[in-house]
Amino acid sequence: MWYFISPDIFFGEDALEKLREIEGKRAFIVTDKVMTELGYVQKIQNLLDMESVVFDEVEPDPSYETVIKGKEMISKTESDVIIGLGGGSPMDAAKTIRVLYEMPDLEIENITPFTPLKIEKTTLILIPTTSGTGSEATTAIVLTKKDEQRKTPTVNIKAGADIAIVDPSLAEALPPAVAANTGMDALSHAIDAYISEWKSDFADGLAIKAAEMIFQYLPRAYKDRNDQEAKEKMHIAASIAGLAFGNSQAGLSHSLGHSLGAVFHIPHGKACGISLPYSLQFEAKEPEVMDLLAEFAYYLKIEDVAALVKKIFDLLTAIDIPHSLKKTDISKEDFEARLDKLTENASQDATAVVIKRTASNEEFKKLFEYMYEGKEVDF
Ligand SMILES: [Fe+2]
Repeated sequence: MWYFISPDIFFGEDALEKLREIEGKRAFIVTDKVMTELGYVQKIQNLLDMESVVFDEVEPDPSYETVIKGKEMISKTESDVIIGLGGGSPMDAAKTIRVLYEMPDLEIENITPFTPLKIEKTTLILIPTTSGTGSEATTAIVLTKKDEQRKTPTVNIKAGADIAIVDPSLAEALPPAVAANTGMDALSHAIDAYISEWKSDFADGLAIKAAEMIFQYLPRAYKDRNDQEAKEKMHIAASIAGLAFGNSQAGLSHSLGHSLGAVFHIPHGKACGISLPYSLQFEAKEPEVMDLLAEFAYYLKIEDVAALVKKIFDLLTAIDIPHSLKKTDISKEDFEARLDKLTENASQDATAVVIKRTASNEEFKKLFEYMYEGKEVDF
Protein backbone atom coordinates (compact mmCIF):
# COMPACT_ATOMS: atom_id res chain seq x y z
CA MET A 1 0.00 0.00 0.00
CA TRP A 2 1.35 3.44 -0.88
CA TYR A 3 1.32 6.19 1.65
CA PHE A 4 2.69 9.61 2.47
CA ILE A 5 3.40 10.20 6.13
CA SER A 6 4.36 13.42 7.83
CA PRO A 7 4.31 14.65 11.40
CA ASP A 8 2.80 18.04 12.14
CA ILE A 9 5.78 20.29 11.51
CA PHE A 10 6.39 23.60 13.25
CA PHE A 11 9.38 25.43 11.81
CA GLY A 12 11.30 28.65 11.81
CA GLU A 13 12.32 31.08 14.47
CA ASP A 14 10.52 30.54 17.78
CA ALA A 15 8.98 27.24 16.65
CA LEU A 16 10.11 25.89 20.01
CA GLU A 17 7.35 27.96 21.61
CA LYS A 18 5.00 25.21 20.42
CA LEU A 19 6.15 23.24 23.46
CA ARG A 20 4.11 25.56 25.69
CA GLU A 21 0.94 24.19 24.14
CA ILE A 22 1.70 20.50 24.58
CA GLU A 23 -0.68 18.77 26.95
CA GLY A 24 0.46 15.90 29.13
CA LYS A 25 1.27 14.72 32.58
CA ARG A 26 4.96 13.91 32.29
CA ALA A 27 7.54 14.21 29.54
CA PHE A 28 10.44 11.82 29.04
CA ILE A 29 13.29 13.63 27.28
CA VAL A 30 15.66 11.43 25.28
CA THR A 31 18.91 13.19 24.42
CA ASP A 32 22.67 13.20 24.87
CA LYS A 33 25.08 14.80 27.32
CA VAL A 34 26.02 17.63 24.94
CA MET A 35 22.42 18.85 24.87
CA THR A 36 22.37 18.94 28.65
CA GLU A 37 25.68 20.80 28.74
CA LEU A 38 24.54 23.34 26.15
CA GLY A 39 21.51 24.12 28.29
CA TYR A 40 19.07 22.95 25.61
CA VAL A 41 17.47 20.38 27.88
CA GLN A 42 16.81 23.08 30.45
CA LYS A 43 15.39 25.31 27.72
CA ILE A 44 12.92 22.55 26.77
CA GLN A 45 11.99 21.93 30.38
CA ASN A 46 11.35 25.63 30.94
CA LEU A 47 8.88 25.71 28.07
CA LEU A 48 6.98 22.58 29.08
CA ASP A 49 3.92 22.89 31.23
CA MET A 50 4.48 19.50 32.86
CA GLU A 51 7.01 17.49 34.84
CA SER A 52 9.87 15.91 32.96
CA VAL A 53 12.47 13.19 33.32
CA VAL A 54 15.73 13.30 31.36
CA PHE A 55 17.54 10.36 29.80
CA ASP A 56 20.69 11.88 28.32
CA GLU A 57 22.75 8.78 27.73
CA VAL A 58 22.33 8.37 23.98
CA GLU A 59 25.67 7.95 22.24
CA PRO A 60 26.45 8.54 18.55
CA ASP A 61 25.18 5.51 16.59
CA PRO A 62 22.97 4.35 19.46
CA SER A 63 23.15 0.72 20.50
CA TYR A 64 20.38 -1.72 21.37
CA GLU A 65 21.62 -1.66 24.98
CA THR A 66 21.16 2.12 25.26
CA VAL A 67 17.65 1.97 23.94
CA ILE A 68 16.73 -0.85 26.33
CA LYS A 69 18.14 1.18 29.20
CA GLY A 70 15.93 4.08 28.13
CA LYS A 71 12.92 1.79 27.93
CA GLU A 72 13.56 0.51 31.45
CA MET A 73 13.85 4.05 32.73
CA ILE A 74 10.71 5.36 31.06
CA SER A 75 8.73 2.35 32.24
CA LYS A 76 9.04 3.66 35.79
CA THR A 77 7.83 7.16 34.93
CA GLU A 78 4.27 6.96 33.58
CA SER A 79 5.21 9.47 30.89
CA ASP A 80 2.69 10.36 28.21
CA VAL A 81 4.94 12.69 26.20
CA ILE A 82 8.29 11.61 24.76
CA ILE A 83 10.70 14.19 23.40
CA GLY A 84 13.72 13.28 21.27
CA LEU A 85 16.20 16.16 21.26
CA GLY A 86 19.47 16.22 19.31
CA GLY A 87 20.79 14.75 16.09
CA GLY A 88 19.63 11.54 14.46
CA SER A 89 20.93 9.39 17.29
CA PRO A 90 18.75 10.72 20.13
CA MET A 91 15.77 11.06 17.79
CA ASP A 92 16.04 7.46 16.56
CA ALA A 93 16.56 6.30 20.14
CA ALA A 94 13.44 8.22 21.18
CA LYS A 95 11.40 6.60 18.41
CA THR A 96 12.50 3.15 19.50
CA ILE A 97 12.01 3.81 23.22
CA ARG A 98 8.50 4.97 22.48
CA VAL A 99 7.67 1.79 20.56
CA LEU A 100 9.13 -0.44 23.28
CA TYR A 101 7.37 1.53 26.04
CA GLU A 102 4.04 1.14 24.28
CA MET A 103 4.65 -2.52 23.42
CA PRO A 104 6.85 -3.87 26.24
CA ASP A 105 6.94 -7.44 24.93
CA LEU A 106 8.29 -6.44 21.52
CA GLU A 107 11.95 -7.16 20.72
CA ILE A 108 13.88 -4.48 18.82
CA GLU A 109 14.65 -6.98 16.05
CA ASN A 110 10.91 -7.34 15.48
CA ILE A 111 10.35 -3.69 14.61
CA THR A 112 10.05 -4.16 10.85
CA PRO A 113 8.01 -2.46 8.12
CA PHE A 114 5.43 -5.23 8.58
CA THR A 115 5.04 -5.19 12.37
CA PRO A 116 1.59 -3.88 13.37
CA LEU A 117 2.59 -1.32 16.00
CA LYS A 118 -0.01 -0.21 18.54
CA ILE A 119 0.81 3.31 19.68
CA GLU A 120 -1.86 4.68 21.99
CA LYS A 121 -0.66 6.35 25.12
CA THR A 122 2.13 8.73 24.11
CA THR A 123 2.80 11.78 21.97
CA LEU A 124 6.24 11.76 20.35
CA ILE A 125 7.86 15.12 19.68
CA LEU A 126 11.18 15.26 17.82
CA ILE A 127 13.40 18.33 17.89
CA PRO A 128 16.51 18.30 15.66
CA THR A 129 19.63 20.20 16.65
CA THR A 130 21.64 19.21 13.57
CA SER A 131 20.60 20.10 10.04
CA GLY A 132 20.64 16.85 8.13
CA THR A 133 19.37 13.55 9.46
CA GLY A 134 15.73 14.43 8.87
CA SER A 135 14.82 11.84 11.50
CA GLU A 136 12.19 14.20 12.87
CA ALA A 137 10.26 13.83 9.61
CA THR A 138 10.67 10.09 8.96
CA THR A 139 9.43 6.75 10.18
CA ALA A 140 12.95 5.32 9.94
CA ILE A 141 15.04 4.04 12.84
CA VAL A 142 18.75 3.29 12.63
CA LEU A 143 20.36 1.51 15.56
CA THR A 144 23.76 -0.16 15.70
CA LYS A 145 24.56 -3.72 16.74
CA LYS A 146 27.93 -2.94 18.29
CA ASP A 147 29.07 -6.56 18.63
CA GLU A 148 28.39 -7.18 14.95
CA GLN A 149 29.70 -3.76 13.77
CA ARG A 150 26.51 -3.38 11.81
CA LYS A 151 23.74 -0.80 11.52
CA THR A 152 20.19 -2.12 11.39
CA PRO A 153 17.98 0.43 9.64
CA THR A 154 14.27 -0.20 9.63
CA VAL A 155 11.03 1.67 9.02
CA ASN A 156 7.48 1.39 10.26
CA ILE A 157 4.63 3.72 9.40
CA LYS A 158 3.75 4.07 13.10
CA ALA A 159 7.30 4.78 14.30
CA GLY A 160 7.51 8.45 13.35
CA ALA A 161 6.90 11.57 15.40
CA ASP A 162 3.49 13.12 15.96
CA ILE A 163 5.09 16.55 16.07
CA ALA A 164 8.40 17.84 14.70
CA ILE A 165 9.76 21.17 15.89
CA VAL A 166 12.33 22.53 13.45
CA ASP A 167 13.71 25.62 15.14
CA PRO A 168 16.99 26.93 13.68
CA SER A 169 18.04 28.46 16.98
CA LEU A 170 18.84 24.92 18.10
CA ALA A 171 21.44 24.53 15.35
CA GLU A 172 23.26 27.55 16.75
CA ALA A 173 26.02 25.52 18.41
CA LEU A 174 26.57 23.17 15.47
CA PRO A 175 30.31 23.06 14.64
CA PRO A 176 31.05 23.68 10.92
CA ALA A 177 32.27 20.12 10.34
CA VAL A 178 29.05 18.69 11.73
CA ALA A 179 27.03 21.14 9.63
CA ALA A 180 28.96 19.89 6.59
CA ASN A 181 28.48 16.21 7.37
CA THR A 182 24.83 16.41 8.25
CA GLY A 183 24.15 18.63 5.24
CA MET A 184 25.56 15.93 2.96
CA ASP A 185 23.34 13.40 4.70
CA ALA A 186 20.36 15.53 3.73
CA LEU A 187 21.51 15.79 0.10
CA SER A 188 21.96 12.01 -0.01
CA HIS A 189 18.41 11.59 1.30
CA ALA A 190 16.99 13.85 -1.38
CA ILE A 191 18.75 12.19 -4.30
CA ASP A 192 18.38 8.63 -3.00
CA ALA A 193 14.65 9.27 -2.62
CA TYR A 194 14.28 10.51 -6.19
CA ILE A 195 15.80 7.36 -7.70
CA SER A 196 14.42 4.84 -5.21
CA GLU A 197 12.49 1.79 -6.35
CA TRP A 198 9.82 2.99 -3.89
CA LYS A 199 9.90 6.59 -5.13
CA SER A 200 6.67 8.46 -4.70
CA ASP A 201 5.01 11.21 -6.70
CA PHE A 202 4.15 12.85 -3.40
CA ALA A 203 7.80 13.00 -2.37
CA ASP A 204 9.55 13.90 -5.63
CA GLY A 205 8.94 17.64 -5.39
CA LEU A 206 10.26 17.64 -1.84
CA ALA A 207 13.45 15.90 -2.98
CA ILE A 208 14.03 18.51 -5.67
CA LYS A 209 13.33 21.45 -3.37
CA ALA A 210 15.59 20.08 -0.64
CA ALA A 211 18.49 19.49 -3.05
CA GLU A 212 18.12 22.98 -4.51
CA MET A 213 18.28 24.51 -1.03
CA ILE A 214 21.25 22.37 0.04
CA PHE A 215 23.34 23.21 -3.05
CA GLN A 216 22.60 26.87 -2.47
CA TYR A 217 22.94 27.17 1.30
CA LEU A 218 25.24 24.42 2.59
CA PRO A 219 28.53 26.10 1.56
CA ARG A 220 27.37 29.33 3.21
CA ALA A 221 26.13 27.59 6.35
CA TYR A 222 29.47 25.78 6.59
CA LYS A 223 31.74 28.77 5.97
CA ASP A 224 29.95 31.24 8.19
CA ARG A 225 28.01 29.92 11.15
CA ASN A 226 26.74 33.47 11.66
CA ASP A 227 24.90 33.38 8.34
CA GLN A 228 21.42 33.14 9.82
CA GLU A 229 19.60 32.78 6.52
CA ALA A 230 21.80 29.89 5.36
CA LYS A 231 21.55 28.16 8.73
CA GLU A 232 17.77 28.45 8.79
CA LYS A 233 17.41 27.23 5.19
CA MET A 234 19.63 24.22 5.88
CA HIS A 235 17.68 23.35 9.00
CA ILE A 236 14.45 23.34 7.02
CA ALA A 237 15.95 21.64 3.95
CA ALA A 238 17.01 18.72 6.13
CA SER A 239 13.42 18.13 7.24
CA ILE A 240 12.14 18.46 3.67
CA ALA A 241 14.69 15.86 2.54
CA GLY A 242 13.58 13.77 5.51
CA LEU A 243 10.01 13.81 4.27
CA ALA A 244 11.24 12.80 0.81
CA PHE A 245 13.30 9.80 1.84
CA GLY A 246 11.00 8.91 4.70
CA ASN A 247 8.33 8.20 2.15
CA SER A 248 10.50 6.98 -0.74
CA GLN A 249 13.37 5.38 1.22
CA ALA A 250 17.12 5.95 1.15
CA GLY A 251 19.25 4.01 -1.31
CA LEU A 252 22.75 3.07 -2.36
CA SER A 253 24.59 6.02 -0.82
CA HIS A 254 23.16 4.81 2.47
CA SER A 255 23.92 1.10 1.94
CA LEU A 256 27.56 2.12 1.48
CA GLY A 257 27.45 4.86 4.11
CA HIS A 258 25.90 2.71 6.85
CA SER A 259 28.60 0.12 6.33
CA LEU A 260 31.43 2.66 6.41
CA GLY A 261 29.96 4.22 9.54
CA ALA A 262 29.67 0.93 11.39
CA VAL A 263 33.12 -0.38 10.42
CA PHE A 264 35.25 2.77 10.46
CA HIS A 265 33.10 5.05 12.66
CA ILE A 266 32.97 7.74 10.00
CA PRO A 267 30.10 10.13 10.88
CA HIS A 268 26.95 9.07 9.04
CA GLY A 269 26.58 12.18 6.89
CA LYS A 270 30.23 12.23 5.87
CA ALA A 271 30.11 8.52 4.97
CA CYS A 272 26.97 8.99 2.87
CA GLY A 273 28.31 12.21 1.35
CA ILE A 274 31.48 10.53 0.09
CA SER A 275 29.43 7.55 -1.14
CA LEU A 276 26.85 9.66 -2.96
CA PRO A 277 28.67 10.56 -6.21
CA TYR A 278 30.02 7.02 -6.64
CA SER A 279 26.61 5.52 -5.97
CA LEU A 280 25.12 7.77 -8.67
CA GLN A 281 27.83 6.86 -11.19
CA PHE A 282 26.97 3.21 -10.57
CA GLU A 283 23.18 3.60 -10.58
CA ALA A 284 23.21 5.79 -13.69
CA LYS A 285 24.45 2.84 -15.76
CA GLU A 286 20.82 1.65 -15.57
CA PRO A 287 18.93 3.64 -18.24
CA GLU A 288 15.87 4.14 -16.03
CA VAL A 289 17.99 5.72 -13.28
CA MET A 290 19.92 7.75 -15.84
CA ASP A 291 16.62 9.24 -17.02
CA LEU A 292 15.51 10.02 -13.48
CA LEU A 293 18.81 11.67 -12.64
CA ALA A 294 18.69 13.65 -15.87
CA GLU A 295 15.22 14.84 -14.92
CA PHE A 296 16.45 15.72 -11.42
CA ALA A 297 19.36 17.66 -12.90
CA TYR A 298 16.98 19.45 -15.28
CA TYR A 299 14.81 20.69 -12.41
CA LEU A 300 17.92 21.96 -10.66
CA LYS A 301 19.07 23.74 -13.82
CA ILE A 302 22.11 21.47 -14.04
CA GLU A 303 23.21 20.48 -17.53
CA ASP A 304 23.26 16.67 -17.25
CA VAL A 305 24.00 13.77 -14.95
CA ALA A 306 27.77 14.13 -15.28
CA ALA A 307 27.43 17.78 -14.26
CA LEU A 308 25.24 16.75 -11.32
CA VAL A 309 27.92 14.35 -10.09
CA LYS A 310 30.56 17.05 -10.58
CA LYS A 311 28.43 19.51 -8.63
CA ILE A 312 28.32 17.05 -5.73
CA PHE A 313 32.12 16.68 -5.80
CA ASP A 314 32.44 20.48 -5.95
CA LEU A 315 30.13 20.76 -2.95
CA LEU A 316 32.31 18.27 -1.04
CA THR A 317 35.33 20.42 -1.87
CA ALA A 318 33.57 23.58 -0.70
CA ILE A 319 32.80 22.04 2.69
CA ASP A 320 36.17 20.30 3.13
CA ILE A 321 34.98 16.71 2.85
CA PRO A 322 37.44 14.51 0.92
CA HIS A 323 36.44 12.94 -2.38
CA SER A 324 37.84 9.52 -1.56
CA LEU A 325 38.30 7.20 1.42
CA LYS A 326 42.05 7.34 0.87
CA LYS A 327 41.94 11.01 1.89
CA THR A 328 40.22 10.22 5.19
CA ASP A 329 42.33 8.68 7.91
CA ILE A 330 41.66 5.06 6.83
CA SER A 331 44.97 3.37 5.99
CA LYS A 332 45.25 1.06 3.01
CA GLU A 333 46.00 -1.88 5.34
CA ASP A 334 42.91 -1.24 7.47
CA PHE A 335 40.78 -0.79 4.40
CA GLU A 336 41.91 -4.04 2.86
CA ALA A 337 41.59 -5.93 6.12
CA ARG A 338 37.96 -4.77 6.53
CA LEU A 339 36.85 -4.85 2.90
CA ASP A 340 34.97 -8.12 3.21
CA LYS A 341 33.12 -6.82 6.27
CA LEU A 342 32.31 -3.57 4.46
CA THR A 343 30.94 -5.55 1.53
CA GLU A 344 28.91 -7.93 3.67
CA ASN A 345 27.32 -5.07 5.64
CA ALA A 346 26.43 -3.04 2.56
CA SER A 347 24.89 -5.96 0.68
CA GLN A 348 22.77 -6.86 3.71
CA ASP A 349 21.70 -3.28 4.47
CA ALA A 350 17.94 -2.76 4.29
CA THR A 351 18.46 0.22 1.95
CA ALA A 352 20.09 -2.06 -0.64
CA VAL A 353 16.63 -3.54 -1.29
CA VAL A 354 15.14 -0.37 -2.76
CA ILE A 355 17.82 0.53 -5.30
CA LYS A 356 16.81 0.25 -8.93
CA ARG A 357 20.12 -1.16 -10.11
CA THR A 358 20.89 -3.77 -7.50
CA ALA A 359 24.54 -4.44 -6.76
CA SER A 360 26.07 -7.90 -6.41
CA ASN A 361 28.57 -8.61 -3.63
CA GLU A 362 31.34 -8.30 -6.19
CA GLU A 363 30.01 -4.89 -7.27
CA PHE A 364 29.73 -3.66 -3.69
CA LYS A 365 33.33 -4.66 -3.15
CA LYS A 366 34.44 -2.84 -6.28
CA LEU A 367 32.45 0.23 -5.30
CA PHE A 368 34.34 0.42 -2.01
CA GLU A 369 37.63 -0.06 -3.85
CA TYR A 370 36.81 2.73 -6.30
CA MET A 371 35.70 4.98 -3.44
CA TYR A 372 38.94 4.30 -1.66
CA GLU A 373 41.03 5.30 -4.65
CA GLY A 374 38.72 8.05 -5.87
CA LYS A 375 38.22 6.40 -9.25
CA GLU A 376 35.26 7.11 -11.50
CA VAL A 377 32.90 4.12 -11.51
CA ASP A 378 33.14 2.43 -14.90
CA PHE A 379 31.15 -0.76 -14.31
FE1 LIG B 1 20.98 9.43 6.32
